[in-house]
Amino acid sequence: MRAIVWHGKEDVRCDTVPDPKIVEHTDAIIKITSTAICGSDLHLYDGYQPTMEDGDILGHENMGEVVEVGAGVSKLKVGDRVVVPFVIACGHCWFCEHTYFSCCDNTNPNAKMAAKVMGQSPAGLFGFSHMLGGYAGGQAEYLRVPHADVGPIKIESDLPDEKVLFLSDIFPTAYMAAENAEIEPGDTVAIWGCGPVALLTIQCAWMLGAGRVIAIDHVPERLQLAAQSKAETINFKEEDVYDRLMEMTQGRGPDRCIDAVGCEAHGSGSFDSVLDKAKATVMLATDRAHVIRQTITCCRKQGTISVPGVYVGMIDKFPFGPAMNKGLTIKMGQTHVQRYLQPLLEKIEKGEIDPSFIITHRRTLEDGPEMYKTFRDKEDGCIKVVLKP
Ligand SMILES: NC(=O)c1ccc[n+]([C@@H]2O[C@H](COP(=O)([O-])OP(=O)(O)OC[C@H]3O[C@@H](n4cnc5c(N)ncnc54)[C@H](O)[C@@H]3O)[C@@H](O)[C@H]2O)c1
Ligand SMILES: [Zn+2]
Ligand SMILES: [Zn+2]
Repeated sequence: MRAIVWHGKEDVRCDTVPDPKIVEHTDAIIKITSTAICGSDLHLYDGYQPTMEDGDILGHENMGEVVEVGAGVSKLKVGDRVVVPFVIACGHCWFCEHTYFSCCDNTNPNAKMAAKVMGQSPAGLFGFSHMLGGYAGGQAEYLRVPHADVGPIKIESDLPDEKVLFLSDIFPTAYMAAENAEIEPGDTVAIWGCGPVALLTIQCAWMLGAGRVIAIDHVPERLQLAAQSKAETINFKEEDVYDRLMEMTQGRGPDRCIDAVGCEAHGSGSFDSVLDKAKATVMLATDRAHVIRQTITCCRKQGTISVPGVYVGMIDKFPFGPAMNKGLTIKMGQTHVQRYLQPLLEKIEKGEIDPSFIITHRRTLEDGPEMYKTFRDKEDGCIKVVLKP
């Protein structure tokens, strides 16, 4: 089959690789009909995520048609149309039972490697490094789906792929980001980033009762889309984010701050961001943490910070004292996608939201490598890429 394969930093190619096979009796194989490139894939593309290997197949935002099921699969049958969560979960461990699916104890075959770094291992993820399972991703013609009775959700209506595809990751991620922000009715919510995750988080913040949403980025077309979702916007290249937020909130700061940027934040020449970039370049630090630092400085006292943005390793100069003294709550995590599938599918079916408004590029797998660069560099107005094998 054809698949997008990681060969090294900034080197992904569309290669011919062996088709996936059923390995465990609880596996299914799906024929991919749509797959997207995520901001998290850029951390792999840019070489931030450790334990990637030459030959790894990328892609964790996947949907398609079931073409084969193992003997132990009871909920899916050949021909079913499914969206597949990026998180692989067993469905029966303590964490799965508590709906903490991204912390599943049983789906990372390389758990020891992850535990060495983190203390305990989180769940395995599709196409996201060996430390997180070494599972092949779905930017390909076919995908092996382990624990097929636990993850995939069947799409029984005739909703097009584009409306439901983002249930695999960024719509639940946006929803959990808004939930983790502990929004109370009327709150002012500031969201760093206007990428796909942030743009959907704006919608979810409104759903959860925000009174005001402020979105921060520097890419004009992304800021424009945020404004169309009724967010007030700040261009961090043109204005000082702290000063502007204080002005907008009469010196109090936003009640809830959401970091939808993660480990590759751009600075606008601030001291910390210049140092981060230098250290990351020579591998002395793993994350560029300008945004998480800024959320702590800007958030109102006793406020909440929610972090859907992905971090991979160690952060320098983390303002832990300010966070402690201001009494902030910080909530974060890889998304417990399985928890949100049914309720969010219902919202799409009822027409309360159509997450496809962020899609700007529809391409084939062969165009995938070029699309990684276009998406990373925000060229050609690129906000979200969907690949159709
Ligand atoms: N927690 C999860 O389970 C989960 C799931 C999906 C994605 N993510 C993460 O969410 C983050 C966003 O994903 P995306 O697909 O929207 O990515 P993206 O790269 O398209 O968007 C990031 C945006 O942040 C902006 N940005 C950079 N520096 C900034 C700064 N200093 N201030 C404000 N904005 C800044 C960029 O211009 C860009 O528009 C990534 O870190 C991704 O890994 C996490
Ligand atoms: Zn993702
Ligand atoms: Zn589990």
